[in-house]
Amino acid sequence: MSTTGGTLGELTKHQLRNLCRVVGIDESDPVRLLGEVLGAADARPLAQPPLWPSDVADDATPAEFSVQVNDTGQRHLRILAETLPEHPSPTNNLRAARDLVDSLADRYDLQLDKLRAVADLFSPDEPQGLFSWWFSFIFDSRGQPKFKVYFNPNVRGPERAHEVVSEAFERLGLAEAFLTVGDHALQREQDRLTFFALDLDPGPQSRVKLYISQHDATAQDVMRAAGAVPGISPAQVGDFCKLLAPGTRRFTGRPLVSSYSLIEGDREKPSNYSIYLPLRDYVPDDSAARERVRRHLREHRIDPVLLDEIIGSLTGRDLSAGAGLLAHVSLRLSPDQTGTTVYASSEAYGGTPQG
Ligand code: TRP
Repeated sequence: MSTTGGTLGELTKHQLRNLCRVVGIDESDPVRLLGEVLGAADARPLAQPPLWPSDVADDATPAEFSVQVNDTGQRHLRILAETLPEHPSPTNNLRAARDLVDSLADRYDLQLDKLRAVADLFSPDEPQGLFSWWFSFIFDSRGQPKFKVYFNPNVRGPERAHEVVSEAFERLGLAEAFLTVGDHALQREQDRLTFFALDLDPGPQSRVKLYISQHDATAQDVMRAAGAVPGISPAQVGDFCKLLAPGTRRFTGRPLVSSYSLIEGDREKPSNYSIYLPLRDYVPDDSAARERVRRHLREHRIDPVLLDEIIGSLTGRDLSAGAGLLAHVSLRLSPDQTGTTVYASSEAYGGTPQG
């Protein structure tokens, strides 16, 4: 699609409509919610520079799409986004995020008790780091939205990240589980707390999630991280790394990320582990990325045509022109289910800068 003359909202909504068709869901809720979360960035002409240097995507686009498929074939469409006010600043962005939670809570059945229990920890007067609160909207196969908020553990400075997250776990009655995670994924100096996230939907499956960036890690390091979760196979994590980044022994580019989910009853140990591989730093270009992801999907008995439909929803560009359209791939492991998520960039502002 030609973007000259268009706005960020027009481009990303066009992409989102295409993705809704791919996943087979009604577009109206997703498109409206995307406009809402983009906030002041929605109507901004693409000819102007990004309103704010959002870290959601490499080119400062404040939204990123992902499609999640589990091994039973169920598909979910997701949007990760940073909401932006008219005059962005760390303080104003945080205020806009809080306002968005309030406005969603007026219209949807949200469970805010966990958020209320920890929100102050992640909402200092002078937020530091790359963001304060991010959102994800997750649409199931009927197009019903679920909401998730990501908090920045570094919002009071990196030196306080551990204390902030530890306190949040404590308040949620999950202190033991945090120790388990620490034993498996916070042993190296290069293991850093990146996101603390909460599902906002009611019910016992509503998750607390912790993400740890494992800089300079090897497959062994993330297999060890997976060992915190009973009943899953860490070897699958090693195989995933090998298949998507063959020949990479140590991931010295953008880091591998480990995440853990805790649902009701997970007091001592998380019940789910996911590995996120920032594919764009470990491939020559998106054409190679596509080949590898196709192979992964086939091994999980997912029709790889899905990948081309996702790519075609977003761009018609030559895939060998650069890397970054396929930003991350993740593998989610729980004792009873495996799922793959493909994170795809809008490239509204030109995509990942090519080094
Ligand atoms: N752009 C950031 C990064 O790559 C944040 C981010 C967006 C991210 N989507 C993600 C991190 C998926 C891990 C997985 O780090």
